[in-house]
Amino acid sequence: MKITFKLFPLFALAFASTVCIYPQEGGAQDRTPDGNGKTLVVYFSWGGTTERMARMIAESTGADLFEIEPAEPYPAEYVPCTEVAKEELDNGIYRALKTPLPDISACDTVFIGSPVWWHTAAMIVQGAVKDTDFSGKTVVPFCTYAATYRDETLARITELTPGARHLQGLGLTRPSQNAVDEWLSEIGVK
Ligand SMILES: Cc1cc2nc3c(=O)[nH]c(=O)nc-3n(C[C@H](O)[C@H](O)[C@H](O)COP(=O)(O)O)c2cc1C
Repeated sequence: MKITFKLFPLFALAFASTVCIYPQEGGAQDRTPDGNGKTLVVYFSWGGTTERMARMIAESTGADLFEIEPAEPYPAEYVPCTEVAKEELDNGIYRALKTPLPDISACDTVFIGSPVWWHTAAMIVQGAVKDTDFSGKTVVPFCTYAATYRDETLARITELTPGARHLQGLGLTRPSQNAVDEWLSEIGVK
């Protein structure tokens, strides 16, 4: 495992400009969120990359930000963190949140972001969103990753928000405002 994760930065360089536009249901006529409600960006970030992407989305959409934070922090060191994350994944453990998700009833659009952790969305993100009813909302998944399992992670966020309408997600290795803005324009949110 250590070897695998040590290779992630190398893969990240190789895939640095990779952008995922993940196909979701809905045609072009079904792409632009309607209504006048708020936009919220919900995200978890251990190392700061997903937070940067979340802030770029908020900057361009005027959205509010909500950070999913663990009640008990994850290990600060990389390898111990991967071990804890693997244990959570293997055993279906959803880490308790410091603060529950806010009331989303006034939101039309919710961006949900996670780092790729062990091939999928971090379990803390999965736990945070799985019991929230996103019916009638537009959900937009996003993620950051080193090299692999971008599409699976975006798909997992979509799967966890079944009542929502979904727009194309985006996965980035090194978030940039340009890439984010291009994507937001394509999905009609900016
Ligand atoms: C526990 C853990 C598991 C990870 N698993 C993967 C993975 O399966 N695929 C991948 O490409 N990157 C993986 N990474 C790398 C992160 O997805 C990547 O560095 C991400 O941008 C980190 O986001 P953050 O800084 O917001 O935490 C993993 C990192 C950690 C800490």
